[in-house]
Amino acid sequence: MTGRFITFEGGEGAGKSTQVRALVAHLRDLGLEVVQTREPGGSSGAEALRELLVTGETGRWSPLSETLMMYAARANHLEQVIRPALERGAWIVCDRFADSTRAYQGAGGGVTPDLIETIDRAVVGETQPDLVIVMDMPPAAGLRRALSRGDDENRFESKGLAFHERLREGFLRRAATHPQRYRLIDADRPIEDIRVNIWAEVSDRFPELKGS
Ligand SMILES: Nc1ncnc2c1ncn2[C@@H]1O[C@H](COP(=O)(O)OP(=O)(O)OP(=O)(O)O)[C@@H](O)[C@H]1O
Ligand SMILES: [Mg+2]
Repeated sequence: MTGRFITFEGGEGAGKSTQVRALVAHLRDLGLEVVQTREPGGSSGAEALRELLVTGETGRWSPLSETLMMYAARANHLEQVIRPALERGAWIVCDRFADSTRAYQGAGGGVTPDLIETIDRAVVGETQPDLVIVMDMPPAAGLRRALSRGDDENRFESKGLAFHERLREGFLRRAATHPQRYRLIDADRPIEDIRVNIWAEVSDRFPELKGS
């Protein structure tokens, strides 16, 4: 039995973590086994790398270093958590995944798509998400939301508005070129409206959920 792999993507404060929790709760209410996870992180080795990646000085790592560390963490997460869960038929809902590397280190940081795709083939390979929910909103408003959370995981939040505008363009381009696997969600709306919209997209993508 093979499980289902759903990822949430988008800029800072777009509401990914909020909607991940809502979707996980909905799927669990249906009696499904659901693994809620996140990147960078999701396994113990990858969480140790997360700490290095998301805290400290903005210039602490170059985009190339970040790419390699993100994929080192992703390899561990795939080996320890994602693939075993998919093999036993679980649903995985992951808060950020490889499209965040494409956006942050690629579109935002200037690492070439060629290099990212070469590494992605080696690390992610066939374990591509079945569905990517892209939460889209103006970055300035998202950053205001994210800053109101007030934790110390703010290395990327500190990179400036132009960087965040490039990320947004990167996510939108990716979604436009893969329309069957990617669903664009207007994230600048009330939480409950977005939740209903996401459930409609998820149950459209996975017809086995229809009627539930
Ligand atoms: N649709 C919404 N409208 C208003 N506020 C929201 C909405 N969705 C989430 N929020 C609030 O905005 C803040 C950021 O939300 P959340 O943590 O879900 O975003 P995120 O995309 O996971 O952010 P990050 O990229 O920093 O992890 C939280 O305080 C959350 O309660
Ligand atoms: Mg979050």
